[in-house]
Amino acid sequence: MTSESNLRVVLASRPSGYPEAEHFRIEEARIPQPREGEALIRVIWLSLDPYMRGRMREGPSYAAPVEIGGVMTGGVVGRVVESRTPELAVGDIVEGSLGWQRYAVSRPGALRKVDPDLAPISTAIGVLGMPGMTAYFGFLEVGEPEVGDTVVVSAASGAVGQVVGQIGKIMGCRVVGTAGSDAKVDFIVNELGFDAGINYKSEDVDAALAAACPDGIDVYFDNVGGFVTDAVMQQINVHARISVCGQISQYNLAQPELAPRSMGLLIQKQAKMEGFLVFQFATRHEWARQRMAGWIRSGDLRYREDVVEGLENAPTAFIGMMTGENFGKLLIRVSEG
Ligand SMILES: NC(=O)c1ccc[n+]([C@@H]2O[C@H](COP(=O)([O-])OP(=O)(O)OC[C@H]3O[C@@H](n4cnc5c(N)ncnc54)[C@H](OP(=O)(O)O)[C@@H]3O)[C@@H](O)[C@H]2O)c1
Repeated sequence: MTSESNLRVVLASRPSGYPEAEHFRIEEARIPQPREGEALIRVIWLSLDPYMRGRMREGPSYAAPVEIGGVMTGGVVGRVVESRTPELAVGDIVEGSLGWQRYAVSRPGALRKVDPDLAPISTAIGVLGMPGMTAYFGFLEVGEPEVGDTVVVSAASGAVGQVVGQIGKIMGCRVVGTAGSDAKVDFIVNELGFDAGINYKSEDVDAALAAACPDGIDVYFDNVGGFVTDAVMQQINVHARISVCGQISQYNLAQPELAPRSMGLLIQKQAKMEGFLVFQFATRHEWARQRMAGWIRSGDLRYREDVVEGLENAPTAFIGMMTGENFGKLLIRVSEG
């Protein structure tokens, strides 16, 4: 492959269970030429996110699926290398949904200019990008935490979960995270300052939750669904709030489990369960980004990125995310900044 070709990853076929290498194809293509009003972007960072599993599936959803043979959907950070629009200059750093490829053309309206002085540019698709906005609004606006609340967050070391837990600490809550390895639990407790962590793969989750949440659970930020969520639901308090962000335990099942069966608890506890999409808060993302950048500068908000080198390794990295192999926000370094 020469650096002059447009390497890209396309969807080869649709998985019915867990994705495998055969569902992706790596192709070389010509670098696209920008038309009047467009710019050519060289991708530096590609974000890999669980929602992409949904795009590999046909059927009704909030977004269209990737076509067979189509470039995989994905958020990127890149540099403008050629411009035929006055709104973008060569050298500008931009963020947008340009897919799993080395080069892409775009109109400026589909891009957000990234301020490289705010934070390292990779954060534009991480803690200060879509996952960070998900954590901020899904927790503060849907979870409605109050000082002294006990908060539980699942997939707690991941892109969204690590931010939720730290905002919980900033808001004066007791924060407990669940994660899939002892190293991840150690990270959220000893490096991020969570009050407790539970390895849901090796511990008795019911007993561990009871020990970590002696006053019950006021806010649950659900990234995973499945048996972890079942266990949390049994220990919610009166007027608990359940922010349903993701259900990754179900994404790769050919037959998703028919749940929840714990709705009676919502009645007993007069609790609220609400799903959300990060885009519904889009008009306030910039405001939140500035606030969170301030927390990063003050040291209140830290972030862990899991960087995989090379676009050709994106399928393997994505497959690994579905079983918890990533440790932090999963990024592909597509080219040098
Ligand atoms: N509503 C929205 O607008 C929105 C926006 C962004 C993301 N999301 C959702 O938020 C969730 C987290 O996304 P993210 O980007 O932060 O991903 P992430 O946590 O960085 O990576 C996914 C993690 O999920 C965990 N996981 C995988 N399979 C699991 C299973 N069967 N049961 C329990 N945990 C499992 C793994 O961590 P462990 O090792 O801890 O198991 C894995 O590392 C996803 O469900 C995603 O779809 C929603």
